[in-house]
Amino acid sequence: MTNSPPPGTFFQRDFTWHPPALTPGYKTSVTRAPQRARIAYDNTVTELTGPTFGHNIIGELDNDLTLNYARPGHSAQGPRIIVHGHVLDEEARPVPNVLVEFWQANAGGRYRHKKDSYLAPLDPDFGGCGRTVTDAEGRYHFRTILPGPYPWPNGVNDWRPAHIHFSLFGHGFAQRLITQMYFEGDPHIDICPILQTIPSKAAIDTLVARLDMNHTVPMDARAYRMDFVLRGQRQTLFENKMEGM
Ligand SMILES: [Fe+2]
Repeated sequence: MTNSPPPGTFFQRDFTWHPPALTPGYKTSVTRAPQRARIAYDNTVTELTGPTFGHNIIGELDNDLTLNYARPGHSAQGPRIIVHGHVLDEEARPVPNVLVEFWQANAGGRYRHKKDSYLAPLDPDFGGCGRTVTDAEGRYHFRTILPGPYPWPNGVNDWRPAHIHFSLFGHGFAQRLITQMYFEGDPHIDICPILQTIPSKAAIDTLVARLDMNHTVPMDARAYRMDFVLRGQRQTLFENKMEGM
């Protein structure tokens, strides 16, 4: 890109990019928002140096949610998709060896979790979680099914857009980033009380995966592309560490 800043440019953090802690439209933010100023702690050596991940910890089906909890000869119900992309730093350099974990509701919008009592049925062939590690070019990919939207107790009739939760683990315990990915064209994105706490449309857009017909597998699965940017002007919005890495 011709207008990219030169290598080594310092990117000042832009805190207006982030949703404020207190956003009453998202009801639980009222009790969760800090009442006092934050205190900074130095990281411990353990937090900075561990853990390390290698491809050898990843099982063969860990990046295939259509099969990893399915009974033999079965697969998860729902529209089959591939999610893929890159993990990049603020200068668009690939970040290899990032443990990428993902979890999601099933095609009916229900999680396999004892506290999820939504009416939609559980799928006996879908667990809803998996993991992979980025390769030398910072790429990741996994197979899954399109999650369904689900209602949640906030206002009288609030529904989450279809989404997949992500955790990105860097080289140390202090480098874990959490976010959610949404799907291009979902009308719930514009009316979700959680997403609408984010001040700018551009920041919301960093969380929206694009349909990628070039990576579909014909007669099998469509593809969505989602890149994660750890810091800088194009940074993905992370819910646990808004300022990025
Ligand atoms: Fe969720």
